[in-house]
Amino acid sequence: MGPIQIALQHNEGTLVLSAAPADRVLDLCDAEEGLTALFSCRSASCGVCVVTVESGESLLSAPEEAERETLELLGCGPNTRLLCQVCLRSQPTKTITQAEVRLRLGE
Ligand code: FES
Repeated sequence: MGPIQIALQHNEGTLVLSAAPADRVLDLCDAEEGLTALFSCRSASCGVCVVTVESGESLLSAPEEAERETLELLGCGPNTRLLCQVCLRSQPTKTITQAEVRLRLGE
């Protein structure tokens, strides 16, 4: 499997990040100029980084308990994640046919 593209749609356009299995999206954003402003607590507690997963969910690791609790407290829908907690799966399943994740800031 080649690099995984993460298309992050935000207020000023769409940024495409190149990722590998097990990468943390937070680390990828930190490496890009101007994206650190997307985050505040970085620990699944403030909810400022809510994203909607538009496609590629199967490439992402499942949310941990803290993330699930915060999303529930915020009343977020089933296709939402906290960007600061999103990681690519370390072992993509064999059923994956696409190598792109599409995320949109906000829900
Ligand atoms: S930055 Fe606070 S929940 Fe992600």
